[in-house]
Amino acid sequence: MDIFHEIKPLKAFLREKNKADARVGLVPTMGALHAGHLSLIEIAKDQGCLTVCSIFVNPAQFNNPEDLKKYPRTLEADVALLEKAGCDVLFFPSVEEMYATKNVITFDFGHLDKTMEGEFRLGHFSGVALVVSKLFHIVHPAHAFFGQKDWQQFTIIKQLVKDLNFDLQLHAVPTLREEDGLAMSSRNQRLNTEQRKKALIFYKTLLEAQQQLHAGKTMSDIEKSAKRNIEQDPECKLEYLRLAHRENLTALSNVEESDTAVLCIAGFIGDVRLIDNILL
Ligand code: PAF
Repeated sequence: MDIFHEIKPLKAFLREKNKADARVGLVPTMGALHAGHLSLIEIAKDQGCLTVCSIFVNPAQFNNPEDLKKYPRTLEADVALLEKAGCDVLFFPSVEEMYATKNVITFDFGHLDKTMEGEFRLGHFSGVALVVSKLFHIVHPAHAFFGQKDWQQFTIIKQLVKDLNFDLQLHAVPTLREEDGLAMSSRNQRLNTEQRKKALIFYKTLLEAQQQLHAGKTMSDIEKSAKRNIEQDPECKLEYLRLAHRENLTALSNVEESDTAVLCIAGFIGDVRLIDNILL
């Protein structure tokens, strides 16, 4: 695997590959890689892509400095996993390399970045859009792969690609789950054994909510009772449980309102913030 820390040599390398008609597939990550990330690499390879994985813990998308500080960083293990997965290129830039000048651009996606995560993480999606735009400009991928676990992020990146005419195909790859159902996430590494067990509450709540919706209950009742249930444990906190239209993220109150809905949840176990969703 070729490893680049700087933009210029990576661009020169990819220019040569493009002359040889390589189709570049980008897998943007913040590292602390797990099987979910590796499934993105595998799908990129299945598409016949020259696979570029980026690892960059992007300060611009963290609204909480503690969260940024505590985000797991496991470069050595990540490199070993990428080598094993057959990834072709790793781009691992420093903050100074990615933000050589202080950024002044902010993004506003209208309703898409004001709902759900947007209510709780001000400026988060502007930071995501900024770094993803930078990565698209640096790597010029023909394909880019993102996890379905971050459904709102994927929806916003789809809008970004449309609005800025990025010439690439986006792929949302289904969430991989641990055996008990917990969605794989880099943040799971920060949970202790007890918290790891408690974290399952979010996926369980999604499944219960799905059943309750099909039984005719409305979202506001479901969210209220989920909050009561989750917050019985003082270490657990529900930020939101929402039903939304999959494409435009409009809030829905029941399943009859749309046949393409996504049920999204976010909350804390201790100081670890987790999100999950299921497509209905
Ligand atoms: O989903 C993530 O890991 C990040 O938000 C991304 C897309 C790599 C941008 O920093």
